[in-house]
Amino acid sequence: MPILTLIEHNGTAHQVKADVGQSVMQAATFAAVPGIQADCGGACSCGTCHAYIDVAWQDRVPQADESESDMLDYAFERRDNSRLTCQLIVSENLDGLVLHLPASQY
Ligand code: FES
Repeated sequence: MPILTLIEHNGTAHQVKADVGQSVMQAATFAAVPGIQADCGGACSCGTCHAYIDVAWQDRVPQADESESDMLDYAFERRDNSRLTCQLIVSENLDGLVLHLPASQY
């Protein structure tokens, strides 16, 4: 079972166990990690599940598709390593993934 680490803007780290096939957003919200609002429930239409992929992982996660990238344009403070966590599906390859949560989602 992959383990994800989500780090709040204040430095508080949360380690979350995730099932393969679920989204990072689902794993984080199930674990009640603050900073992932996910207002649309994972429909890629709100941008409130925004997170930054840790630089060490940036080349190891699948790229955002066009619809995710379009939605990210509405996210506050988009960066090169921005992702919508509802669109990032957990696989064994993501065991140990580290994400940083933006201050804007608190
Ligand atoms: Fe709304 Fe991800 S939960 S875009």
